[in-house]
Amino acid sequence: MIFRQLFDSVSSTYTYLIASRRGGEALIVDPVLEKVDRYIQLIGELDLKLVKAVDTHLHADHITGLGALRDRTHCITVMGERSKVDVVSMRLSEGDKLAVEGVALDVLYTPGHTDDSYSFLMRDRVFTGDTLLIRGTGRTDFQNGDPRAQYDSIFNKLLRLPDETMIFPAHDYKGETVSTIGEEKAFNPRLQVKSIDQYVELMNHLNLPNPKMMDVAVPANMRVGLAQDEIARRGWAVSAAEALSLTDRQDVVLVDLREPSEREKHGVIAGSLHVPYPALQENISAGGMLQELAKTTGKRLVFYCAFGERSAMAVQAAQDAGLALACHIQGGIDAWKKADGPLQR
Ligand SMILES: [Fe+2]
Repeated sequence: MIFRQLFDSVSSTYTYLIASRRGGEALIVDPVLEKVDRYIQLIGELDLKLVKAVDTHLHADHITGLGALRDRTHCITVMGERSKVDVVSMRLSEGDKLAVEGVALDVLYTPGHTDDSYSFLMRDRVFTGDTLLIRGTGRTDFQNGDPRAQYDSIFNKLLRLPDETMIFPAHDYKGETVSTIGEEKAFNPRLQVKSIDQYVELMNHLNLPNPKMMDVAVPANMRVGLAQDEIARRGWAVSAAEALSLTDRQDVVLVDLREPSEREKHGVIAGSLHVPYPALQENISAGGMLQELAKTTGKRLVFYCAFGERSAMAVQAAQDAGLALACHIQGGIDAWKKADGPLQR
């Protein structure tokens, strides 16, 4: 397995690069914008294909690298379903898996630091974001933070993991790199409370100054910018309402880019083909299934995904591969549902 802990010294952020093997698919957790060149270099050196970039929550102390990584590697940007960030192309909820080839992390909803905080469990280690830090916990005084929710997330979810589970947080300000659940139970001063009320009292009296970057980082991280805006400008998008009238046309093929778990959970548009986004490139290049289909039948490829971001990148890739009729459903299944589009399960 490949596991790298990378550090941004300006914001004291840890970023994690994970893959099951050299040459395989990779995911990155909590990337920092200023470090994107470094990540891309390392991904190249290790011969990895970045498939997913994930933020544990909306960060207030640095600008996320999600948008830049999407633009440069065409990866899928992932956050929890409670996130209000625009750039997210895949949303996860408690019980889902965050998966790339050979790696599957369990998604835990761990609100408290923010209401969109998630942790990811990978067998012997857990990525705790700012929910549980080494000898500390994430502040709960802004971004819909809630010390009660955080107590519940920590005591009733994270601390129930086996004692030897390693903790990899999103930040450390003293140079600590890793801890364990057992160690934090015993030595984290914030966890030595006797009741939830005592924890709330403690968290409500920290009197911390706001992060220096907060006024810049929060709005920037809320609006990273959508890949589908540019695709719409080029005239390669159809609205969900327009797409409704395309489904029974013989000259159209709908292509679902989502993962099997998303299809199961939300349903599919009847009659569509399934090509998961990471397999897109091989399907649209010369000799690939979609390339052949479009070339031999003259049919128009209409891509869709969850929110329209993966499908927007797919349209660009298909256009680049010479498939001039390719377009996508703006806003994805989310918009399709809002337009009362029928879904099959
Ligand atoms: Fe944070």
